Amino acid sequence: MPKLPFPPPPKLNPAPKRPGEANGKTTPLDTAGEAGISAVDWIDERTSLSGAARWMMFRKVPKGTNWFYTLGTATMFAFLNQAVTGVFLAMYYDPSPTRAYESARYITNEAFLGEFVRGMHKWGSTVMVILVFLHMGRTFFFGAYKYPRELNWIIGVVLLILTMTMSFTGYLLPFDQRSYWATIVGVNINGTGPIVGPFLSDFLRGGAGFGATTLSRFYAIHMLLVPGGLIALIGAHLYLVARLGTTAPPWIKPSSDTGHLEDRV
Ligand code: HEM
Repeated sequence: MPKLPFPPPPKLNPAPKRPGEANGKTTPLDTAGEAGISAVDWIDERTSLSGAARWMMFRKVPKGTNWFYTLGTATMFAFLNQAVTGVFLAMYYDPSPTRAYESARYITNEAFLGEFVRGMHKWGSTVMVILVFLHMGRTFFFGAYKYPRELNWIIGVVLLILTMTMSFTGYLLPFDQRSYWATIVGVNINGTGPIVGPFLSDFLRGGAGFGATTLSRFYAIHMLLVPGGLIALIGAHLYLVARLGTTAPPWIKPSSDTGHLEDRV
């Protein structure tokens, strides 16, 4: 049988010259600086992700963009703070009715930097709720919910509900008197909702009574279900922001009849 010829070797790009290489004087600092760039190049050559990153980050923004436009990003950073501090809290927290209070006490009084991390998580949750409302107010008053951004507004509404669910389910976890009784009140209020109310409160309690399953259920919702939904929806929300661009403030008038795109800088 005739042998097939070998395919030609692939053409590789020549390695870029390091700074100072021409005169033979490469300092360790040059090499360290180049290492980061080479690592990014290495990943980009194999994934072509730089195009997507450029599409996401280098966008034209409308004239008049101001500090109010940072509220969405601030909400996202508040969420990231909750995710990072939450991971450390989960290393010590025990969601059993007999151990939960003691494990929370241990985090505050004995674990290394525990009080700081728990404080960041507790105050961070309040900050996130305040920021999400301010961000929603900004998008509403700037008319950003109108065509073609209706879907992003709807995703935002679900993000708001999920953020409130995070606060509600997290409140029970310290399992002290206040969190216990406040959650009973909250679950009962849910139960008064029309049609779905009683099912929702039964689901939250994990049965007819408030018991051991309630705590583990709240913990699973708080640290797995809702954060998963938040991450997926924040991804979709940001995709739509990058795809559609942000709305110009209402007081900026289009510079021509062709629409507002000319106003982007
Ligand atoms: C976890 C919660 C949320 C995060 C992390 C988030 C993040 C962001 C970011 C980073 C932007 C682009 C920058 C900006 O305009 O501030 C944005 C835009 C937007 N968000 Fe949110 N958001 C959240 C919740 C909400 C809520 C609750 C609503 C409304 C119900 C909403 C509606 C919108 C709309 C309509 C835009 C487009 C704004 C424009 O075109 O000017 N978002 N969001």
